[in-house]
Formats: sequence, structure tokens, C-alpha cells
Amino acid sequence: MEAPGFSHWLVMFVEISAAVLLLLLAMIVLLLCVVWFVDRNQTANAVLRNYPVIGHFRYGFLKLGEFFRQYLFAMDREEMPFNRAERTWVYRAAKNVDNTVAFGSTRDLRAEGVPFFVNAPFPELAEAHVEPRPVTIGPYARQPYSHAAFFNISAMSFGALSAPAVSALSRGAARAGIWMDTGEGGLAPYHLEGGCDIIFEIGTAKYGCRTADGRLDDQRLKENCAHAQVKMVSIKLGQGAKPGLGGLLPGSKVTPEIAAIRGIPVGKDSQSPNRHTDIGNVSQLMDSIAHIREVTGKPTGFKAVLGDVDWIRTLCDEVWARGIESAPDFIIVDGSEGGTGAAPQTLMEGVGLPLHEALPALVDTLLSKGLRERIKVVCSGKCITAYDVAWALAMGADFVNSARGFMLSLGCIQSLQCNRNTCPTGITTHDPKLQRGLVVMDKADRVFHYATNLMYEVGVIAHSCGVKEPRQLRREHCRVVANDGLSVSLGKLHPYPVRPPA
Ligand SMILES: Cc1cc2nc3c(=O)[nH]c(=O)nc-3n(C[C@H](O)[C@H](O)[C@H](O)COP(=O)(O)O)c2cc1C
Repeated sequence: MEAPGFSHWLVMFVEISAAVLLLLLAMIVLLLCVVWFVDRNQTANAVLRNYPVIGHFRYGFLKLGEFFRQYLFAMDREEMPFNRAERTWVYRAAKNVDNTVAFGSTRDLRAEGVPFFVNAPFPELAEAHVEPRPVTIGPYARQPYSHAAFFNISAMSFGALSAPAVSALSRGAARAGIWMDTGEGGLAPYHLEGGCDIIFEIGTAKYGCRTADGRLDDQRLKENCAHAQVKMVSIKLGQGAKPGLGGLLPGSKVTPEIAAIRGIPVGKDSQSPNRHTDIGNVSQLMDSIAHIREVTGKPTGFKAVLGDVDWIRTLCDEVWARGIESAPDFIIVDGSEGGTGAAPQTLMEGVGLPLHEALPALVDTLLSKGLRERIKVVCSGKCITAYDVAWALAMGADFVNSARGFMLSLGCIQSLQCNRNTCPTGITTHDPKLQRGLVVMDKADRVFHYATNLMYEVGVIAHSCGVKEPRQLRREHCRVVANDGLSVSLGKLHPYPVRPPA
């Protein structure tokens, strides 16, 4: 018998392929019929009920739109919270590559609220960059802290951030001579790795220094603060993204390591209260500050979001009544535009003063009460570029903190997934597969370059304004565009209540 020829096999192949294709087609049609039936009869979604099957395209396009807008369609100055021009500036500063632009700026200098600086006709002939002088915080604490860098890493807990992210921040911070705030998750070994200065934050759940029932454990507090790297203690009253709200740490995130650091049971949900149970008024806040400063020997202050400054006035009166040494050594004012791992949109967008109102309100209250020198002012809230930081210094801050600026320096691409375990850059995820993308030594380098390049450029602004170092910037050095497109001096918008600080 003759063996089947090539044409026989070809015919068989075509017939089988056609049968498979028909089967596939039949399955797809069946699937679409099922989806059509389910969509048509479900009661929760009107679009799908009216447009079964094709209604699903809407959700696909909505999801894809996020990516298309960022990569293809959004203009350089359009996106929020940080637009592409701002992000690119941070990336380039972090990579330490040329950050000059050609032809002209895309920044609209006539838009309401835009700040710019007043150059001096005859700036100093000297080198543009002058090292900032150290500022001493907590002169009455047993171990006062002197720190020069005016741009530092804001509170972000180990838990919100991954271990490699904390480790890279710690190493980069040490090289740049800046501090890093632990955030409310307690002190992790990763914070200590690089050898940087550390602010130990006490959140409302007192993670890291709590008793089993959530009260302050002096012994654990003392142990944490016995590390020479821990320079100050910050009591967190609130943060801009969620004023007056505690947080739920889901049991799935409470690994044995996180449980040990925070002092909570493994695998169980942990709810932090919406305020410290032992701090319900200004007097109790002052008591806590005094107690923690006494236990740790370190300068102690607090972080808050301001709604108004009446209570700060009350606090200042209480300081004068108790004696100047009783004052908080610093106040960190967080603008309502602040970020977080997860917060309800309503609180994030609708409660608390933004930094451009909160900072002058705080500085002026302290000035008018004669406590501006005693209580150092730290601020945070979308200060990620040199002119944001220069604005804050001109307004009266001693130090500026940034959380998301440093996340961008670690490679954050603003994919807005910090509240899930899916951060594609390994910064806010505990998935080892995603963390693999974050190479600690490379990112530590970027943290270092971002901090030093930013501070250098603030120095360039200061030099152009005719002052020797950034902390000499005053409100008169900055103007802000008003609603008629013309600028007004910050000194006129927010006149100093008494003579300006020396
Ligand atoms: C991922 C993430 C985690 C944060 N965790 C804390 C925290 O534990 N404690 C705290 O006081 N603030 C926390 N914050 C708020 C920041 O410290 C900062 O106050 C706020 O984001 C404003 O700074 P930014 O605009 O530079 O991000 C967190 C912010 C982010 C983005």
C-alpha cells in the first residue's frame, strides 16, 4: 500500500484546525451568552444590565486609561499628586544626571499660588553653595541635638514600607547627613542599618514601646531610644492625610517580625486609636512631652495637622506658665496634602489646613508668643523640589521633611497602589518577588543624591536672593501669584506679627 502523501497530511491538518477553531468559537459564544445572561439579570450594575457584555469594555478602558494618560496623553504639568515635570526633576536629581532644561520652562508663572523668588541685583561673588549651619533642638534635654541639613526624610513606618526600602533610605540618609523618621511602626533593624540619625515616632498605638494593652511602656521606650542613632522623639498627634483617624493593620500583614517590632500578637488585626488615649488636651500633651523627655533624655516634640491655631496659643500660654524648659522642642506641622499608605479619600481631601496656610499660622503664633526660637518648626506636605523647600524656609520653617519625594527617589512611579501589596517598584509591598526590583545599594545612592542635589539647589536660590545660606531666606524673598496674575510679596501676604526672626 502506498504511504499517505504530503497533501493527505495537509488536508488532515486543515480539517483538525477547523474543528478546533469551531469548538473554540462555540465555547466563546457560549461564554458570551452566559455573561450576557448574568449581566442582564444582575441588579447591582445599571450599565451592565442595560448593555450586557459590551459594558465590560468601559471598566477595561477605565483601568487602561490610568496608564495611557500617564505615559501618552497627560501634559507635563497636569497629573496629581505630582506631575511629570516634578517627578522627572526628582528622578534626575536622584540619578545625579544633568537637571538643566532647554529652550524654556513649561511652568506657568502666572497661575494663582505659584511662588517665585526675588533675586538680588548684586548677589554675593562667592561660591553659590554655602553649607547650612547646625540648628540645636532641645537645649534643655539631657542630650540636645544639633543638625544642619534642612531637608530630611519624613515618617514612614516599616510595614508601610518594605524592608529594602527602609534599608536604602537609611543608608542614603547616612551618606547625606540627613535624618530619617521611623513612622509609627516602631524602630526596625533596617532603620539602623545605614547609621543615619533617627527620629523615633510614637503613634497612637505606641507601636514599639507599648504594653500589651496599648499604654506607654517606659522600659521599651528607653531601650529604643538608648540607640545613639535615635536623636529625638516625636509624638504623632495626627498626619495630613487622615487627621483624627487611627489605622487598621490587617492580621495578614502582622508577620512575626512586624509583631515583634511593634509589640503586638502575630497574625491578628491591630487597630490604632484615633488619638493617644492618654493625651486628650494641651495639658496632658505637655505632661507626656515632659515624661518622654525625662525617660529618654532626648529632645521631644509632636507632629500635628492644624485645623486652627487656638490650641497652639493655649499651648504657648501653658509653656510660659510651666517654664520655658517645658516647651515641646519641636513641632512638625503636616499639611493636609500629605500622603499615606491608606486613608479615606474624604479625610485626605477635605479635612485640615494645607501647608501654605498651616505653616505661616504656626510660625506666626510662635513668634507672637515669643517661642519661635525655643520651639523648632519642621514642616511637610508636597515639598519635593528645591523651590518648595525654599518657600518653606522663607516662610519660617527650620527643617522640611519629605516622604513621597524620597519614595520617588527610590524609584516610585506613582502607581497609587501603596494600600495594596502590589507596588510594582517594591517600595510598599511585602511580596519578595516585587521587592527584588529594589536594589538597596543602587537606591541608597539615589536617596543620597536626591537629598544633596535638592539642598544644593535651595542654596543656589538663596545665593541668587543675596543671602548666605538657605535658612536666611525671609518672606520678602518670595512672591506668590495672586488671582489677577500679578505677584504679591509673602511678607505682605503674611506679615510678621512681631519683628522677623534674627
Ligand atoms: C507610605 C507612607 C507612609 C506614611 N507613614 C506615616 C507614619 O507612619 N507616621 C506619620 O506620622 N506619617 C506617615 N506618613 C506621612 C508622611 O510622613 C508625611 O507627613 C506626608 O506624606 C507629607 O509629606 P510628603 O508630601 O512629602 O509625602 C506616611 C506617608 C506615606 C506616603
